[in-house]
Amino acid sequence: MNKHLLDYNLKVRLPVIAFVAIAVFAITYYASYAERNSIGYAPEQPVKFSHKLHAGTMQVDCKYCHTGVDKSRTASIPAVDICMNCHSLARIDRPEILKLKSYFEQNKPLEWKRIHKTPDFVYFNHSAHVNKGIDCVNCHGDVKQMEVVGQVNSFTMGACLTCHRKPETKIVNYSDIKNNLKKGPENCSACHR
Ligand code: HEC
Ligand code: HEC
Ligand code: HEC
Ligand code: HEC
Ligand code: HEC
Repeated sequence: MNKHLLDYNLKVRLPVIAFVAIAVFAITYYASYAERNSIGYAPEQPVKFSHKLHAGTMQVDCKYCHTGVDKSRTASIPAVDICMNCHSLARIDRPEILKLKSYFEQNKPLEWKRIHKTPDFVYFNHSAHVNKGIDCVNCHGDVKQMEVVGQVNSFTMGACLTCHRKPETKIVNYSDIKNNLKKGPENCSACHR
């Protein structure tokens, strides 16, 4: 390689390549973050399950399906068995229920798309909030009215801290539960363990 070409490679091509690589990385990183963490993210799910119908109209308790929510860190998404408690009888001729049944019979898990997610370095515990009377609606919005679940609040550090500092501005049923409520922690190690 002659010196001219080497110079050209170092001074012109390398910076251009580096710039393009960084830009591509930044854009894909931002896009995947925005897709998963932004308000309004409401992906289409493998079966058209409606919270509005089940939790709203039929008033099935959130805990019937999200069995971990008052016991552990995660709320948990129900396995197909729970749906089949009713759908081995209810609406068995409908296309979406036939789909459900085929997952059940093949013992195949339904791959629901995850909507709300904090990064792995964050510690969040559902039961610590829910058992103190902090209703789902404060963080997830009015799921009972949602045909398709979407994210309505941001789950940034600022959002957690705003409620920990000023719960009265963020918890809709604050006056009912305040006597039993401590302030949420603000020290780093509470949420980053
Ligand atoms: C009959 C079962 C059932 C009931 C009752 C139910 N859910 Fe769900 N929930 C699901 C299923 C299945 C999913 C995953 C598919 C989806 O997002 O619609 C889900 C998803 C969710 C999600 C999004 C999870 C994620 O990926 O971030 C939230 C939040 C949620 N439910 C809250 C509630 C609340 C609040 C109630 C009560 C008002 C409730 N659910 C009642 C079955 C149920
Ligand atoms: C407590 C009983 C019950 C449970 C549990 C339940 N369902 Fe349902 N579901 C019903 C009933 C009843 C209907 C019909 C309501 C109507 O049409 O008025 C229905 C309707 C539906 C429909 C619409 C069917 C159609 O096209 O008319 C879908 C899809 C559905 N359920 C999916 C699910 C899934 C997925 C789960 C599990 C996450 C689930 N259901 C859990 C009782 C239940
Ligand atoms: C104080 C805020 C807060 C409250 C109250 C809350 N959630 Fe959540 N929820 C979150 C956060 C934050 C995540 C993401 C957690 C993660 O990534 O580990 C989440 C995730 C979820 C998920 C998906 C992941 C999982 O844990 O299985 C479901 C389902 C869910 N919530 C249901 C509920 C239900 C039902 C209630 C009420 C009984 C509720 N949540 C109350 C903040 C809350
Ligand atoms: C709507 C209000 C609200 C939001 C939003 C909220 N919290 Fe809290 N949190 C509280 C309150 C109130 C407590 C104290 C409850 C008690 O013990 O009385 C608490 C307690 C905690 C605790 C101590 C209990 C434990 O699990 O060790 C941690 C950690 C925590 N929150 C993390 C988070 C994180 C992370 C987020 C954001 C993803 C968040 N919280 C969002 C209100 C909130
Ligand atoms: C109430 C819970 C909570 C407390 C307390 C908390 N954090 Fe966080 N932190 C979060 C959450 C949730 C995220 C992820 C969402 C985000 O990036 O905003 C985060 C993200 C971060 C990040 C990554 C920043 C980024 O932009 O990606 C750093 C660094 C961090 N926290 C440091 C700290 C330090 C230092 C403290 C103490 C002064 C602290 N945190 C206290 C909840 C908390």
